[in-house]
Amino acid sequence: MPKRGNQKSFIGDAMRQAGGARSLPKNAPIAIVGAGFAGLAAASRLISLGYNDVTIFEATNRTGGRVYPIAFADGYIQLGAEYINGRKNPIYEIARNLNVLEADNDEEEDDDPLENGILAAGDCTVSQNDRNAFTEFASPLMDKYESMAGQGDQTRSIGQLYSQDYQRFLSNQRATDKKSVYDALTRLYRSSYEAEWSADWNDLSLLNYDQFDTGDSESEEHSMNKMGYKAVLDFISTNVSRDKIKLNSRVTNIDYSGNEVKIRLESGLQPKTFQAVIVTASLGHLKKFARSLFTPQLSRTKLTAIDTLGFGSIGKLFLVYNQPWWSQNTETINILPVDGCTTNSPATDKLFTTFHPMAWNNNVLQGWLSGSAPAAIDAMSDDQVKTAVTGVFRRMLRNNTIPEPTRILRNKWTTDPLFGGTYSYISVAAAKNGASFDQIATPIVVNGQAKVLFAGEATHPDVYQTTIGAYISGRREADRLFLGNW
Ligand SMILES: Cc1cc2nc3c(=O)[nH]c(=O)nc-3n(C[C@H](O)[C@H](O)[C@H](O)COP(=O)(O)OP(=O)(O)OC[C@H]3O[C@@H](n4cnc5c(N)ncnc54)[C@H](O)[C@@H]3O)c2cc1C
Ligand SMILES: *[C@@H]1O[C@H](CO)[C@@H](O)[C@H](O)[C@H]1NC(C)=O
Ligand SMILES: *[C@@H]1O[C@H](CO)[C@@H](O)[C@H](O)[C@H]1NC(C)=O
Ligand SMILES: *[C@@H]1O[C@H](CO)[C@@H](O)[C@H](O)[C@H]1NC(C)=O
Repeated sequence: MPKRGNQKSFIGDAMRQAGGARSLPKNAPIAIVGAGFAGLAAASRLISLGYNDVTIFEATNRTGGRVYPIAFADGYIQLGAEYINGRKNPIYEIARNLNVLEADNDEEEDDDPLENGILAAGDCTVSQNDRNAFTEFASPLMDKYESMAGQGDQTRSIGQLYSQDYQRFLSNQRATDKKSVYDALTRLYRSSYEAEWSADWNDLSLLNYDQFDTGDSESEEHSMNKMGYKAVLDFISTNVSRDKIKLNSRVTNIDYSGNEVKIRLESGLQPKTFQAVIVTASLGHLKKFARSLFTPQLSRTKLTAIDTLGFGSIGKLFLVYNQPWWSQNTETINILPVDGCTTNSPATDKLFTTFHPMAWNNNVLQGWLSGSAPAAIDAMSDDQVKTAVTGVFRRMLRNNTIPEPTRILRNKWTTDPLFGGTYSYISVAAAKNGASFDQIATPIVVNGQAKVLFAGEATHPDVYQTTIGAYISGRREADRLFLGNW
């Protein structure tokens, strides 16, 4: 099949002569798969450009995708995206205009768990000396790894680099009996990378530091008030009327073998045909279903990119209590199970790392999961999570009166076939074989017409992972159809 760049078709030339561009006619039926930020941005843009026959097929019974605000008290708990990376981007602009940015967030996020907060180490006492020694060693590392971006072998993983530095640190330390304490601190330190990038740090290639670029400082993250992404979601949906969105409509096949694109739904239903379809399903979904979703099969380049680029997971747990049991001035509670220290500390204790009180509601403690923990926790029932999390607090804070949460709010991202995790990253394998987000983004052109286009966070070369990348990529593909730019 023709790829991008193969534009010398008869139809393309004819349209260029007639209209100056191969732009799709305004009444052309266009389908969008997915009503997340990419799908909504694409629809909104197409509608603004004058396209009057746009249909979004969304598998779930809601819009937003990985933006998932749920009503709680007088605000919204964000089960999905919560922060905005940097300022020089349209999502920050929208949030600022909507007045939902937290006023006091100009300073850089301090995501180093070792610098602040309680270290909850159970029956172990981690001496201030040990903590200082480790902090002195570990704190400069993130800057060091960032500065290695673009230099040397970019296929090395952060975990690999750390492991070398850590061995050096250990051999410089006299007291070898401290290893278990330093190992525990390493686990916590590791989580600051893994919760940021949604990747096992042994698979997080250095290339990410080279490619990921918000145009602002990398660690600059902005928080929003209790409306947060709910307000942003409503705003970007303004021009997309509800009748254009088909909920509970999972697409199981996109057949672009003919002149018109045929779509099959899980229900067996086959809607009318389309001139073009914009696919915004997550990379996690494509990893599972790319081979059955498209007829004919995607190109080898695209499939390799889908197979090898990374799609990992973070986890968010919202623990609701009748009243806070933590002290008023608690910033973060860092869980630090040290091997051999606390009696009856089960393996699940190591699933937990960082908790902090939710900014706008006193009764909620927010927990972050990373590495293999999100999948492990997703496999547990709410009651099992309640027991596990209460146990770890009681053991690590040595206080048996800490109550169970009354409710747990979460979404099981890893086991949901529509997501299969949280967001993408450049894996070691992708860094090695040159698989790129641009390869996923390349539209499929048939007879000079772009028939299948790709948007979504995993199609943006610089701000993948984010709502920003999702939003920009949706507009990009709408503009592509309008401009005949393929
Ligand atoms: C827990 C979590 C925390 C995050 N934190 C942040 C953050 O703080 N800041 C940030 O910028 N980003 C964050 N992200 C990432 C951000 O949410 C995503 O990058 C962004 O929302 C992706 O938008 P999208 O439109 O590309 O994909 P999605 O939001 O996944 O939208 C795709 C839509 O397609 C639907 N779909 C999939 N397959 C089919 C099918 N076959 N047929 C029909 N419909 C289908 C899905 O249901 C979904 O609604 C977070 C994500 C998660 C999960
Ligand atoms: C909605 O459409 C109007 C008219 O085209 C436009 O001015 C406005 O910016 C659009 N709003 C959004 C949120 O896209
Ligand atoms: C939407 O679907 C979820 C399951 O995915 C279900 O729990 C919820 O009740 C549904 N909501 C509505 C309004 O149908
Ligand atoms: C133990 O936790 C309870 C709350 O459940 C709190 O009131 C009490 O002060 C804590 N005790 C100690 C010693 O921290």
